[in-house]
Amino acid sequence: MSPTESSKTTPIATAPHHVAIVMDGNGRWAKQRKMPRVAGHKQGVDALRRTVRACIEREVSVLTVFAFSSENWSRPVEEVSGLMDLLAVALTREVPRLHKNGVKLHFPGERSGLSPRVVQGLQRAQETTAGNSRLTLNVCFNYGGRWDIAQAARKLVAQGREITESSLDEAMSLSHVPDPDLLIRTGGEMRISNFLLWQAAYTELFFTPCLWPNFDADELDRAIADFAGRERRFGQTPEQLARADSPSQKGKGGSSDA
Ligand code: IPE
Ligand code: IPE
Ligand code: MG
Repeated sequence: MSPTESSKTTPIATAPHHVAIVMDGNGRWAKQRKMPRVAGHKQGVDALRRTVRACIEREVSVLTVFAFSSENWSRPVEEVSGLMDLLAVALTREVPRLHKNGVKLHFPGERSGLSPRVVQGLQRAQETTAGNSRLTLNVCFNYGGRWDIAQAARKLVAQGREITESSLDEAMSLSHVPDPDLLIRTGGEMRISNFLLWQAAYTELFFTPCLWPNFDADELDRAIADFAGRERRFGQTPEQLARADSPSQKGKGGSSDA
């Protein structure tokens, strides 16, 4: 498969079209203050609200955040139920404002394991905001990169379709958006933790020690400025990139609209 077929990313690193974030460090933020972990997650919701606003102001088109991983079920039961309650409360409190601000919501992730009330809330939020176009906000909840690849393959098999890179890509839970240009992980860990395994093939990575509840527009700007200095080669040489205006190179290494 040629790079043109396999990649949906932007070849030149200017402003990122799609930003993804592993929102990590809530527990440590709370621990520093001798507060329960759930208090850190509550502050995390405020940080997400700020970040959505900052992305809209910076004309980022897609924001994808990791809110609860397939593996987070193994946390203490009171933390898991605290996170479920927080999602339910956030759906009620945040969705009207997001809708007013032109945000289109998606919740990539597995529905099984979630309460019927939460599943209904996710569905309703997606439907209410489906017509918006200012910012697409993907909140990955009960999500894992491995789950996503496996569910896409299962879907194709059930439909009797061939498994190719492009058919898998279409069946994936983020098929409605191009691949992320920039992936930020807060909290200082330098790993992916089963986030967008398929979609981050050519994403630029930015790791910051900043704990998620402390994340703000300045930290986002630091990540975007760092991203702007990257050279995205998609397997090509720098010389080929310099000639990218020549007709033979047009469209190579990503979407042709860049
Ligand atoms: C990330 O913060 C939020 C979730 C995983 C739900 P953590 O809760 O992992 O915070 P740390 O890593 O323990 O500080
Ligand atoms: C990743 O953070 C998941 C989310 C931010 C939702 P974790 O805190 O769960 O990741 P690990 O366990 O440190 O790898
Ligand atoms: Mg963590």
